[in-house]
Amino acid sequence: MTATANRQLLLASHPKGRVRDEDFRLAESPLPALAEGQVQVRTIYISIDPTMRIWLHPADNYLPMLQHGEVMRSVSLGVVEASRSSAHAVGAFVQGLWGCQEHAVVDAAAVMPLPPIAPLPLTAHFSLLGHIGMTAYCGLVKIGRPLAGETVVVSAAAGAVGSLVGQIGRILGCRVVGIAGGEAKCRHLTEVLGFDAAVDYRRDDFAAALKEACPKGIDVYFDNVGGEMLDLALTLMNVFGRIVACGMISTYNDLSAAGPRNIAQVVIKRLRMEGFVILDPQHDAKEAYEHLLKWAAEGRLQHRAHILEGLECVPDAINMLLEGRNQGKLLVRVGQEP
Ligand SMILES: NC(=O)c1ccc[n+]([C@@H]2O[C@H](COP(=O)([O-])OP(=O)(O)OC[C@H]3O[C@@H](n4cnc5c(N)ncnc54)[C@H](OP(=O)(O)O)[C@@H]3O)[C@@H](O)[C@H]2O)c1
Repeated sequence: MTATANRQLLLASHPKGRVRDEDFRLAESPLPALAEGQVQVRTIYISIDPTMRIWLHPADNYLPMLQHGEVMRSVSLGVVEASRSSAHAVGAFVQGLWGCQEHAVVDAAAVMPLPPIAPLPLTAHFSLLGHIGMTAYCGLVKIGRPLAGETVVVSAAAGAVGSLVGQIGRILGCRVVGIAGGEAKCRHLTEVLGFDAAVDYRRDDFAAALKEACPKGIDVYFDNVGGEMLDLALTLMNVFGRIVACGMISTYNDLSAAGPRNIAQVVIKRLRMEGFVILDPQHDAKEAYEHLLKWAAEGRLQHRAHILEGLECVPDAINMLLEGRNQGKLLVRVGQEP
């Protein structure tokens, strides 16, 4: 039966620093009637992404500022439960930015159809494909442009994007060094994912350990963290190295944090440092999907989902990412798979 009532997570106040439950409010409301050209979706998974903390700042960023009373924005995956559009049939899986709510009525053009990926689980649309896989593939391959034999270093290496980046680097014949928080995550990188080395950034001797793990310097630094880690990587970069500015999670609770002290290294070493936002149209999407699916089918690319239950989890889930409490791609399940 098609739902008529909805539960939504609304923004109550823009958090200062760490996200608090009080920054949100759960609301129940009737679903609007479906107009021509619209679909009604039932949410199954909400992707929890570090960028949600950026979206919570009281300023426009690469997307408009979220206002108090608005549904918390998220990349969500669901199933079409009613349709007045020829683009999406009832029962089809779709993805879009309809946010943290159990149902949504949206324009058909605002959701993207998801192809069948069995025998992969539905969650692989987030742990392997979708914006995560695209970020890892396009960031490393198209921006980092690593050559076989080069040293690739990736930060937040045990996370969703980082773990794919490192494995892709290995497939391309690079020496891959991951940076992660804690011994267990570092062991996972070397023993399960095949990284050449992993360095725990919480160690007192982190700087010396990273240098030791990169005896030939760094050719490509895939930066997920920014801050002091970027500063350190700058000192270890080789001439004509590339820095993929993918994310700067260490700054997301306070975007006014000071920039890197060692930025002069970009000049001295003739580095290329390039940022990107994967929500921009990607010309290489088809190529990325084909490679990711092929490598996963060959058993060369592992991915895992860390699933929480219920809309109520979303505020703390955002903190989990910023505190390293996730093991793989973090998702919140708000509805059952059909
Ligand atoms: N440019 C784009 O279009 C795009 C798209 C997707 C993601 N991203 C970026 O990619 C990065 C990873 O995102 P993800 O979704 O894959 O999340 P994730 O890596 O699965 O989770 C975030 C991880 O960041 C690490 N972390 C958090 N705070 C840190 C700090 N202060 N210093 C060092 N490490 C810290 C934690 O791992 P530890 O346990 O190792 O600390 C945590 O598990 C983020 O920076 C995100 O913004 C960018």
